[in-house]
This record gives sequence, C-alpha cells and structure tokens, in this order.
Amino acid sequence: MVVRTKFQEMIGTKYPIIQAGMGPYSTTELSLYAARAGAVGLISTIGMGVGLSAATPDSASKVFGKGSPDVLISNAIMKVWDGLKDFPDAVFGVNIPVSYEFVAVAKRLMRGIVNTIEEHPEIKQKLKVIVTSAGDPLPWAIDAKAKGAKRPAKYQPKTFHDDITWCHVVPAVVHAKRAEKADVDIIIASGHEGGAHIAWDPVHSMVLLPAVIKAVNKPVVAAGGYCDGRSLAAAIAMGAIGIQMGTRFIATKESEFQDIWKKAIVERDERGTLVGRGLFGPMRFLRNAQSIKVVEETLKSIPEVFLGKPMESTSEIMKLEMEGMAALFDGDVDNSIILGGEVTGRIDSIPTIKDLVEGIMSEAEEIIKKLPEKVIAKTIKAS
Ligand SMILES: Cc1cc2nc3c(=O)[nH]c(=O)nc-3n(C[C@H](O)[C@H](O)[C@H](O)COP(=O)(O)O)c2cc1C
Repeated sequence: MVVRTKFQEMIGTKYPIIQAGMGPYSTTELSLYAARAGAVGLISTIGMGVGLSAATPDSASKVFGKGSPDVLISNAIMKVWDGLKDFPDAVFGVNIPVSYEFVAVAKRLMRGIVNTIEEHPEIKQKLKVIVTSAGDPLPWAIDAKAKGAKRPAKYQPKTFHDDITWCHVVPAVVHAKRAEKADVDIIIASGHEGGAHIAWDPVHSMVLLPAVIKAVNKPVVAAGGYCDGRSLAAAIAMGAIGIQMGTRFIATKESEFQDIWKKAIVERDERGTLVGRGLFGPMRFLRNAQSIKVVEETLKSIPEVFLGKPMESTSEIMKLEMEGMAALFDGDVDNSIILGGEVTGRIDSIPTIKDLVEGIMSEAEEIIKKLPEKVIAKTIKAS
C-alpha cells in the first residue's frame, strides 16, 4: 500500500510531505535533499531580507551570502535546480513570509523569482510551490499566482507560471477564510506548538486542523507538531491531505543547521520550549539561558504578548536575539537563540533525510493498514 492523497495529485511529488520554510538559513541544502527524497523542499527567505550578514559575525556572512533579496533568491533557486537535475520527479518551492514588517522584501523576492523563471523557463519543471506565511494573503493574490485581479499596471506584467501551487500558512479559522477568499490552492494550518514564529492567538493543532478543514472548501495541509508516520496518519484521519514539518527536518544529517542546534532538538523533552516576543510576533524557542532572558524581558516590557495582543518588540529583545544568533556561530549552546517546536520532545535521532521521509511513509502506511482491523476487533468484542 502507498499513501496517496490529493497532495501528490496536485503537486506531483512522491510523498504528501512539505519541508517547512525555516529561516534564518536559506535551507538550500535541506530543500535539495527533501526534494530528492520525494517531499516538497522549500527554500527559506527570511535570512535574505533582515540584514543578518551585517548583524552577525564574519563567519556568518558566508552562510547568509551578500546581495539584495532578489539576487539571493535567484542564486538559491539556481543552486537547488542544479542539484535536482538527475531527479526527474523532484519538486521544490519557496517560502515567502508576507508579514507587514517584511512586505518590501517580499515584493523583491517575488520579483526575483519571476525574473529567474523568465530567464530560465526550464525551472518550471521543478519549481512548483510558493508558500506565503505570517501575513495577509489577499494583497498577494496576483503576485503569488496569476489570478487576473485588477492591479496597477506596474504589478501586472510579471506573474508566476500557471501550474504553480500557491499555499498559505494560517494559525486560525478566520485567517483560513481569508486565504480561501484569496483563492490559494492549499491552506496550511499551523498549530501553536510549532517552532519559531507562531500566532498571537494560541490555537494548537488538535483543535486548529479539524476546525480549518470544516470551515473552508480548500485542501488543507497540517503543520505544527508533526514528525513521524503516526502523526501523518493522524493528520490524514482528521482530513488533511499532507503534513508540513519544520523542527523534525532540522535534526537531519544533511540540514545546514548547526550541530549544536540538531543536538539540542534531540536532547529536549516536550517541555523544552518557551514562547517570547520574536522578530515578527511571538516566537517559540528551545529553552536555554538566552531564551529565558528573552521571555523575562517580554514579561517585563510587553506582557501583552501573552494575552494575544499584537505589540511591537523592544530594542532590548532585538538585542538579545541578535546576541543569541552570534552565540550560535560561536558554538555557545546556552547563550544561543535556538528555535524549535514542542515536537522536539518526540525527536531522538538525526537520520538522513531519505531515511526520515521513507520511515515516516512506511510507518503511516502500516498504521493506516492496521486501523480497520483494530476498530473491527474492538467492535466485535464489545457486542
Ligand atoms: C527554525 C525555524 C525557523 C522557521 N522559520 C520560518 C520561516 O522563515 N517562515 C515560515 O513561514 N515559517 C517558519 N517556521 C515555521 C515552520 O515553517 C513550520 O510551520 C513549523 O516549524 C511547523 O511546526 P514544527 O516545528 O512543529 O514542525 C520556522 C520554524 C523553525 C523551527
């Protein structure tokens, strides 16, 4: 048996799994290997736009690269495309956060993608997914996918190719309805247990996923807390067409995240995360000395974050986060900012991406196959 859902039909991948967009790195390595393994590999763009190479040590600038967002995204796309030439069925995409703080960068990134496709139309064979996140999808309807909406001429001529699948990440039903209005192709419902940027309102996957599925007439992918075949099978049982995983993909052999980051994910139990004010709103960190400082500072200066009230960050919090990023490059695990979700408590290995993805699929298939037997056996016993 092979688990096939509408996901594979829409996107053409081998498996119904998305490797989440995850800054600060461009995740070109991760997306390359995820795509080779049969999932959708996503290039991440946050680090291309927030001046990280200037704010972090010299050793970091070669990781983030130098140049404007449109050049950096184009380089990343070409790199992944080149690495997938011998993999006929591999599919990759790009994550673009569209939060209001990131709008100017997001526009340059969108333009960079369109220009790259125009210069190298062959890329269309594999660049098949755009995932927008962290903001309102409606203003992006025409940029993310040619929908023919009326827009000023300067925005009109450049659009992505028609067969791109536009996914948008939502943290609540109200945002899912907005994504439906924008006519996205797939809605990704991302629960509050997820790593890094999370929503102001804390709705977790067990409530969010079925609520979104019921509220919209769009295919839904589940995110936040997924890491194995058991959770993939559960997502499908609740009505999702696939899963998006972030934290689980970090702790893999090929991902470009530092070894201390991978090790920290393996070592934490499910209580090992904290939420404080991050770059674009609340952020889930792995618990350590630096994230405790961020949370203490959040409680001191903007406790409204914990009441679900959108508030600007403070210079002290930004400073702590930048210091934490620099510490990461020094290998100082206690004083680093390390992002990750509650699912860290369910991760205890650093496999190759191929082994991870194939293991998830075979476990899910086994569980789904045995499910009817279990239910029928119980019914007979009870009667
Ligand atoms: C280190 C890290 C960085 C992230 N950066 C981004 C990002 O740049 N854009 C985005 O849409 N989501 C980002 N996320 C959230 C993921 O895309 C994904 O939705 C989330 O990780 C899912 O929850 P999980 O961590 O439980 O798998 C990030 C998550 C992590 C752990």
